Amino acid sequence: MADDKVEKAGAATAAPAAPRTVDPAALKPRPPKAKSPPPTLDPKTSGDLARRAFVWHGCAGFITMLLVCFGRFFFPRALFEPKTRFTIGYPSDYGFGVDTKWQQKFRIWVCRNASGLFVIYARCTHLGCTPDWKPSENKFKCPCHGSGFDAEGMNYEGPAPKPMLRCHLELDPTGQIVVDSLKLYDFETGTLKFKDVAPGGQGPLLAV
Ligand code: FES
Repeated sequence: MADDKVEKAGAATAAPAAPRTVDPAALKPRPPKAKSPPPTLDPKTSGDLARRAFVWHGCAGFITMLLVCFGRFFFPRALFEPKTRFTIGYPSDYGFGVDTKWQQKFRIWVCRNASGLFVIYARCTHLGCTPDWKPSENKFKCPCHGSGFDAEGMNYEGPAPKPMLRCHLELDPTGQIVVDSLKLYDFETGTLKFKDVAPGGQGPLLAV
């Protein structure tokens, strides 16, 4: 019995393998794949993308605005006032009468009379408007409320309560007139004398 089993096993191992058969259908070339349609965007996902783009654009705009504001610091919105101490040339440049050539630039009039040369600060003593020089009437006339001043700046009509102020004058080493429009001389009330005049060749009047 045992010998039979050994013989059967030997016969099974010795049998040749059957040849592999190939399905002829498998050898046929495969038909080309049909083109797949473009992927459609998931409406949920595309909404996310749009929101993200919106946030990024918002951030970029905000940062740009900050940069512009930062740059604006370097260009302050400042008023550039005219100089308050300046030269206006030599005394011989000014004849008798009122010279208005510095009115626009420095808000002054340069005047000369028999006593000498003086500079009136062109500000009405009522509410601060700039009067106009009227050569035909030989007076300064304030356009705001009608105050009138004579050629020396003395008030004589309208609401202006006192004469116009005069600027401090001195001569520099080259002989040019230096005007200081921050140092203004006022008249003593009821007199024709100026307050705070220091002795010497400087002050509201140059005898030149
Ligand atoms: S401001 Fe000159 S009259 Fe009033």
